[in-house]
Amino acid sequence: MIDNNKIIIYGGTGHYGNKVVKKLVDKGSLVKVVSRNYEKARRKFGDNIEIIEGDVLNRDFIVESLKDVKAIVICLSAGNRKQIRQMKQIEQDAVLTIFEEAKKAGIKRLVYMSGYEIKKQLLLDLNVLEFGEIKLEIESKIFQSDFNWTILGNAPSSEIFFTFVRNGKMVVPGGGLKAIPSISPEDVGEITAQTVLRDDLNGKRIKLTGPNAFTFPQVAKLFSELTGKKVKHIKIPLFVFNMVSLIILPFNPFVRFLYKSLKLLNNFPSDMAENVPEDHKLLRKLFDYEPVSLDMEIRRRIKENKL
Ligand SMILES: NC(=O)c1ccc[n+]([C@@H]2O[C@H](COP(=O)([O-])OP(=O)(O)OC[C@H]3O[C@@H](n4cnc5c(N)ncnc54)[C@H](OP(=O)(O)O)[C@@H]3O)[C@@H](O)[C@H]2O)c1
Repeated sequence: MIDNNKIIIYGGTGHYGNKVVKKLVDKGSLVKVVSRNYEKARRKFGDNIEIIEGDVLNRDFIVESLKDVKAIVICLSAGNRKQIRQMKQIEQDAVLTIFEEAKKAGIKRLVYMSGYEIKKQLLLDLNVLEFGEIKLEIESKIFQSDFNWTILGNAPSSEIFFTFVRNGKMVVPGGGLKAIPSISPEDVGEITAQTVLRDDLNGKRIKLTGPNAFTFPQVAKLFSELTGKKVKHIKIPLFVFNMVSLIILPFNPFVRFLYKSLKLLNNFPSDMAENVPEDHKLLRKLFDYEPVSLDMEIRRRIKENKL
């Protein structure tokens, strides 16, 4: 008997993906995690899930990975120093191959992780089109497909506010003076797990965010209040980053990618930020979960002596 009962997670070892895997396992689902490194994935998840080692750049591997699968979650990313040059092949070409092979295998349910809200005109105005064009291309292919699909527009992880803090200082290129949405990876995991298990979210694009948008100075203030130690917000000019990233572009394109993400972050549209509480309310209506707020994330790190 053919038993297509597994949920496959491409990118299941990643920042958001590993939370999706854990939440699905907690809910008793049969999960298959794709990773290029079996041992690393095994250490992360222990013995009770299936791990399939391989590279999505290989079509035969994709075909093999889709056996016994009933639903697909895609949270692949090549946005790191080592893989940035292969971003199009991994995030676009391989994802389209997954779609083709999934269709051939008769798999219907698809959940795709994207960016919060991708506005082409904004990307063009800021000259950072390459930052979102792959996601736009994939989304347009999904809209035209006959998958039972849901797109999740993820806000940046709340981790973003912690990465700029060292020794009582929050040093932010461009200052981070515009309010941005953010979300706890725990919430992304829970919502994504619920999404893939539901059948009533076909054709929906849902924005995933925590309850409020924050500027970096606001978060520095929150850190100071909750830790009882002053965290000083310091703005460094973004143009320095721009120049450095251009000079080293031939050797290290990742810094250019970081610059573009920082440019976007520093120009996050106010109307989108103002809508964050509404977007969050909608999420609370759609899903049964207790959000992990930024306060809670800060308190957890204080408890674990990480702040
Ligand atoms: N993190 C954020 O703040 C954020 C914000 C907004 C949207 N998003 C979106 O959320 C999604 C997930 O992002 P993330 O930050 O969680 O990603 P991540 O931590 O960088 O993880 C990337 C994942 O992709 C897998 N991967 C990369 N290349 C692969 C290949 N050639 N073959 C097989 N697997 C490969 C990696 O697996 P192995 O290394 O195990 O092979 C890893 O599990 C992306 O679509 C991203 O754009 C993220």
